[in-house]
Amino acid sequence: MNKYNGISFPATRLRRTRRTSALRKLVEETTLSTNDLIYPVFLLDGKNKSSPIKSMPGINRQSIDGILKIAEKMMNLGIPAIALFPVVKTNDKSLVAEEAFNSEGLIQRSIKKIKSEFPELLIISDVALDPYTTHGQDGIINSDNYVLNDVTVDTLTKQALSHAEAGADIIAPSDMMDGRVGAIREALESNNFPNTLILSYAAKYASSFYGPFRDAVGSDANLAAGNKYSYQMNPKNALESLREVAMDINEGADLVMVKPAMPYLDIIYKVQKEFSVPVFAYQVSGEYAMLQAAVKAGYLEYKMSTLESITAIKRAGASAILSYHSLEIAQWLNE
Ligand code: PBG
Repeated sequence: MNKYNGISFPATRLRRTRRTSALRKLVEETTLSTNDLIYPVFLLDGKNKSSPIKSMPGINRQSIDGILKIAEKMMNLGIPAIALFPVVKTNDKSLVAEEAFNSEGLIQRSIKKIKSEFPELLIISDVALDPYTTHGQDGIINSDNYVLNDVTVDTLTKQALSHAEAGADIIAPSDMMDGRVGAIREALESNNFPNTLILSYAAKYASSFYGPFRDAVGSDANLAAGNKYSYQMNPKNALESLREVAMDINEGADLVMVKPAMPYLDIIYKVQKEFSVPVFAYQVSGEYAMLQAAVKAGYLEYKMSTLESITAIKRAGASAILSYHSLEIAQWLNE
């Protein structure tokens, strides 16, 4: 006997609870608030610089002055966290990405600056080598272009420490090397950063929806015909995401991420059901670009479609969402 047996019309009319707005509010299962939002930004070196990203209408790469204005806006809107992605100058890129852990690098300087002006805004810093490598891979490659795991982990650990030293609250490894969470956690503990959180991109898929991001940080040309299939997850796999998450939790992750978001709602749902760790989701650049393109073509209405997309991600089980729509969503929620 399942519990739905015996429920029949007209004893049950599901439309009763949908009749008025007040009734609908009363039975709402999912609520979205500004507390759930994280805003990713693209950082340029220099002063008073801003450059539009063609495939992401409405989003600009900006120098620190512009990012500080965004940070202030975020504080006023009640968005708790900013995620930083650097656009690294060609001259600073190399085969082994040593710029990634330069204590005076763009990211490290920017973390210090944002922290000093807005100490309460949480800073999430990305740990991966793709903005820093001449080949656009997230790690260090051998002569066959294969990304080497353990050497890469050493560099990622240095990168993570340099972010923690600069004042990052949350270190977010997005590289998908094995064992990097454990190595970073150990380095944080032994260097007296016991309270720095690790948000691991635990289930990060080898997705075609990252294209506009690679354009934004300028790694697409470097990556050229290359791909990330040897380390990011196969979109055909779901069970494997549970192994990834389990490993990262054991190694010391405080928060885990599923990425992309809307095409992977089943993964968000499964991870949230299986583990008690907070699950974050990344509504990636390609998801943003699709929505913007459809709106521009007149095929979709912007506000309601955007809110629906974020609500769906929340409903699937995400406790926080990285979205390029975060500023607008917060404005709508505050209206
Ligand atoms: C790279 C990284 C990527 C994104 C965040 N960090 C792209 C990639 O893995 O190639 C994608 C984010 C987005 O598409 O919005 N470490």
